[in-house]
Amino acid sequence: MNNPASGNAALATRDLRHVWHPCTQMHDHESVPMVPIVRGEGAWLVDADGRRYLDGISSWWTNLFGHANPRIAAALAEQARTLEHVIFAGFTHEPAIELAEELVRITPPGLDRVFYADNGSAAIEVALKMSFHYWLNQGHGEKTRFIALTGSYHGETLGALSVSDVALYRKTYAPLLLTPFLAPSPDAYEGEPGESPEQTAKRRLGELRTLLERHAHETCAVIVEPLVQCAGGMRMYHPSYLSGLRVLCDEFAVHFIADEIAVGFGRTGTLFACEQAMVSPDFMCLSKGLTGGFLPLSAVLTSERIYQAFYAEYNAGKAFLHSHSYTGNPLACRVALETLAIFRDEPVLERNRQLAAHLARRLQPLRAHPHVADVRQTGMIAAIELVADKASRRPYPAAERRGLRVYLHGLQHGVLLRPLGNVVYFMPPYVVDASHIDLLVDTAIAGIERAVAD
Ligand SMILES: Cc1ncc(COP(=O)(O)O)c(C=O)c1O
Repeated sequence: MNNPASGNAALATRDLRHVWHPCTQMHDHESVPMVPIVRGEGAWLVDADGRRYLDGISSWWTNLFGHANPRIAAALAEQARTLEHVIFAGFTHEPAIELAEELVRITPPGLDRVFYADNGSAAIEVALKMSFHYWLNQGHGEKTRFIALTGSYHGETLGALSVSDVALYRKTYAPLLLTPFLAPSPDAYEGEPGESPEQTAKRRLGELRTLLERHAHETCAVIVEPLVQCAGGMRMYHPSYLSGLRVLCDEFAVHFIADEIAVGFGRTGTLFACEQAMVSPDFMCLSKGLTGGFLPLSAVLTSERIYQAFYAEYNAGKAFLHSHSYTGNPLACRVALETLAIFRDEPVLERNRQLAAHLARRLQPLRAHPHVADVRQTGMIAAIELVADKASRRPYPAAERRGLRVYLHGLQHGVLLRPLGNVVYFMPPYVVDASHIDLLVDTAIAGIERAVAD
């Protein structure tokens, strides 16, 4: 028997009395249930009434190897008994050293320096500041601007939000933000009729070139989400855009910042998305899956050349200044090391390829659905674009909140789906099997039928 005092209703009531949740109009909870989770087991979350939910979105794209993964939990417990935290200026520790060595080893060549922060947005702040400061140290203080792609999302602190282009998050705070130059996204969904994703990428590179011809002298960096623009609606593009971007950044002397916070660690089929274009960015931002979904941690990798531009006598005033109290937290670093050890010990990417192929097969019939304009997939990320009218691809008005209906259907049927507006997507933890994928897809299909019913 569930104890009513610690069941869903009691916990939800207490929560709503004091807690203010992210990405939420709290008023929604007058009708949308708040779900108190008490336990996680692999791909499942268990609520306070004992109901189970298959986590189809890896809890905001963080979880890789299952909730409460015993191997990671054991590593964390051991580290907690040894060293929980230490100031990371003047002091260091083995987990941070070893993690930096490991990240340098597994990321694309030329990324030899690791700067830690404690969440994704903070990593973006670091990369933006470091890029600007590099040019300043090189005598190019006139470079103060950034280029971002339309539809991009890089986080919600003011700097990260500045280079983001999702109106929902940006519009209200626009008066507080830096203004980036926006280059049109190579998003294949927005391609011209009859154009292949590769042709779209090529055309968009031409437009980026024009922007750089005009503004490279005042631009520090181009920042992109490699292959998949996640929060912008899981919009996907051809890898040739990244190789073209590398060439343009070199030609015009601007940095290439790869935000692999969501797409890193195997999500797109390779360990890092940049590998599919065989490019090394000047900065690579990592977080989320870095700790397997256990703890907040982020890392910005960059080159020795950039590092050397800061390396000087103290009084030259060239040092990079960015610090968070929990930089390089030993617990998080230890957990990240254990996560990377799982990649070494198990055929994770190979297994993911089989799961991704199964997911693709299961999604195939949805292409014919009268309210589905696109089914797209890159590795373990798949998305379904719902539209009011298939022929014209006219979207449902955002105010109709069709995605919310899919979310509520999922909750009622034991599946956590959290559509981005009209885009229903899957980004499951890697511990799912084919039957889990079947449940995700079947529930999504039934949810979509309910969402488009009137
Ligand atoms: C591509 C990308 N960059 C940055 C962030 C921000 O990370 P965080 O939520 O840890 O601040 C996110 C979060 O979803 C993201 O998807």
